[in-house]
Amino acid sequence: MTRILFVCLGNICRSPMAEFIFRDLVEKRGLGAEFFVASAGTSSEELGNPVYPPARKKLLEHGIDPSGKRAVQLKPEDGTQYDWIIGMELRNLNSIHRIIGFHPPCQVKKLMEFTSRPQADIADPWWTEDFDRAYEDILEGCQGLLDFLTK
Ligand code: 4NP
Repeated sequence: MTRILFVCLGNICRSPMAEFIFRDLVEKRGLGAEFFVASAGTSSEELGNPVYPPARKKLLEHGIDPSGKRAVQLKPEDGTQYDWIIGMELRNLNSIHRIIGFHPPCQVKKLMEFTSRPQADIADPWWTEDFDRAYEDILEGCQGLLDFLTK
């Protein structure tokens, strides 16, 4: 069982999109039993809130329903409870390490590192309002991550 935690700032846009897209990919490949997938935010700003409506709408357009997800905050012990912590942008990685420590037992990577554009970030649609772009980039990253973990 590979345990993956996707992390963004608020846990209402990008990391829940990544959680649900990755789980969908895994289930479509018949690998559901091999992965435990969740998401969290580095800030406490949105704690308890559901997926932001435009992000939820984008997922629903692709047949993915994130109902029930509520924002949670990254905890120090997540560094030992997950194998992979996957941030959405460079700034996330700094915040992640401040919470779980700078030498955690898990791997800490940025999602786009698993694509042909490893320097890229997932731009925050909370600010850009470009949920199409966020969806496409997150899908590309999730496909790359799943390919890496299953090759
Ligand atoms: P996310 O987007 O990190 O992709 O969930 C954000 C959501 C909320 C805020 C910032 C980013 N906020 O400042 O409340």
